[in-house]
Order: sequence, then C-alpha cells, then structure tokens
Amino acid sequence: MASSLNGKVALITGAASGIGRATAVKLSKLGCALALTDVVEAGLSETAELCYTEKVIVAQLDVSNAEQCDLVVKETVEYFKRLDHVFNCAGINPTAYPILELPEGYFDKLVAVNLKGTYNVTRSTLSHLKEHADCSFVNVSSILGQRPSKEMAAYCATKYAIIGFSKSMALELGPKGIRVNIVAPGFIDTPTNASVKAGPEAVERSAQSVSLGRLGQAEEVANAVAFLMGDEAKYINGSVVEINGGLAY
Ligand code: NAI
Repeated sequence: MASSLNGKVALITGAASGIGRATAVKLSKLGCALALTDVVEAGLSETAELCYTEKVIVAQLDVSNAEQCDLVVKETVEYFKRLDHVFNCAGINPTAYPILELPEGYFDKLVAVNLKGTYNVTRSTLSHLKEHADCSFVNVSSILGQRPSKEMAAYCATKYAIIGFSKSMALELGPKGIRVNIVAPGFIDTPTNASVKAGPEAVERSAQSVSLGRLGQAEEVANAVAFLMGDEAKYINGSVVEINGGLAY
C-alpha cells in the first residue's frame, strides 16, 4: 500500500543527529521530500546522504533565532512550493544540576531552544500549512515532560511546557484540519542522552529501570513520528505518545 506521506514535504529541526536524523531517514523511505535543519551544519549533509530521496535541502538553523526561522521556512516553501509536516525535534538534552548550581544562562538557554524554539518554528511555518489538507506538527517532549526528576528542573520545565503548548495548539488548529501531536521519548540511545554521555554503567542503570530492559533506538521514535504524521493517525490530535519501553515510575 502506498504511504500517505508519499509526495509530502516535511521540515525537521535538529536533523543533524539522533532522533531528528532517524526521522529524516524514515520519512524519506515513505516518500517525503525533506528540509533538514540544525544549528550544527556539519551533520546535515550526512543525514541527507542517509535519506532515500534526492528531494532534500539542508539549512543551518538555530531555532532560538526567530528571524532565521522565518528565512529558512521561506526558502523551503519557495523551493518545494508546499509544506505539509513539521517535526520540532531540536533540543538540548538535560545535564543534572541541583537548583542552586545551575550554570549562569543554562535555564535561559533551555527555554530559548527547547520551548521558544518550538514556538518560533511553529510561528514561521503555520501560515504555509494548507488547511484541511492532512498537515500536521509533531513536537518532542520527554518522559521528563510527564514525570519529575530531581536535578532536572530546568529541562522538566521546558518539556512539561511543550505538552501544554502543543495541546493548546491542537485545540486551536483542529478546526482548520491541522493536527498537533507530541512524542515523549524515554531513554533513547543518542549522543547527548545523559546516560549515554555518562558511560556504560549509567546506561546499564537506565536500562534496568526500563521494562524492556534496554534503551530505545532513535529509529523507534522515528516510527512513531511518521505514524503520527500519516493518515492512519488522522483522528489523533493533541495526544502524547510515550515511547519509553515501559517505565515503572
Ligand atoms: P541529539 O543531540 O542527537 O540531537 C539534537 C539535535 O538538536 C542536535 O543535532 C543539535 O545540534 C540540535 N540542536 C541543539 N540546539 C539547537 C538549536 N538551537 N537549533 C537547532 N538545532 C539545535 O539528541 P536527541 O536525543 O536526538 O534529541 C532530540 C530531541 O529529543 C530533543 O528535543 C531531546 O530533548 C528529546 N529527547 C531525547 C531523549 C533521549 O533520551 N535521547 C529523551 C526525551 C526527549
């Protein structure tokens, strides 16, 4: 059966690594043309090479910079003549800090990238998504957007906020036929996951807290993102899809 995403155009932020990269590959397999963006330009061409389509453009984009968002989105729409799906994936994964030891600027940076960045890209793209034409947003929260964690207050604040922002968006855009959903990954094996950065013992501890006994793969999040964008999810709106292998707490 042909994919409902065949011939669609998706813009991905944070596409140079991890979940953003895996989602680019997945969407390309399903026939999407792609605008791949990231603040770090270096990994973008590697992602483009992994994709199963020639219909890819890459652009350096810092999502915390609203003007850059407008510019890159304008270039994308000029190039592809349409935009159907937006995957707001760019984000800074957490580092554990007690409240009184948060480095200067850390809180502001997480808010600017994880939260305001999602808003910036939404604001730049929204008017280009056609109403009642199966367009959608998928935004990335986290297990830490649903459950608290000590020494992760700043990150939790941004990821809880993403859920409130996205669910409100879903209510506003539903009447226009534009869906908004959220993925909430648990421990996913990407270069900046806190356990991965801390080393094998931390990975093992995290894995032991997961019912399936392992960290998730970026591709396993990408599968959920592609599902949420496609026709099979056309009555799913404002939902949080947990992808965490089963966590007890
Ligand atoms: P990653 O570090 O592999 O990829 C994140 C990408 O975002 C990087 O390429 C980075 O350059 C980019 N980025 C950072 N700041 C940016 C900015 N200002 N503008 C544009 N791009 C920027 O990390 P991963 O794990 O793939 O993270 C993707 C998203 O998933 C993030 O929002 C993260 O918080 C979220 N997440 C990850 C989990 C995990 O365990 N890996 C768990 C839950 C959520």
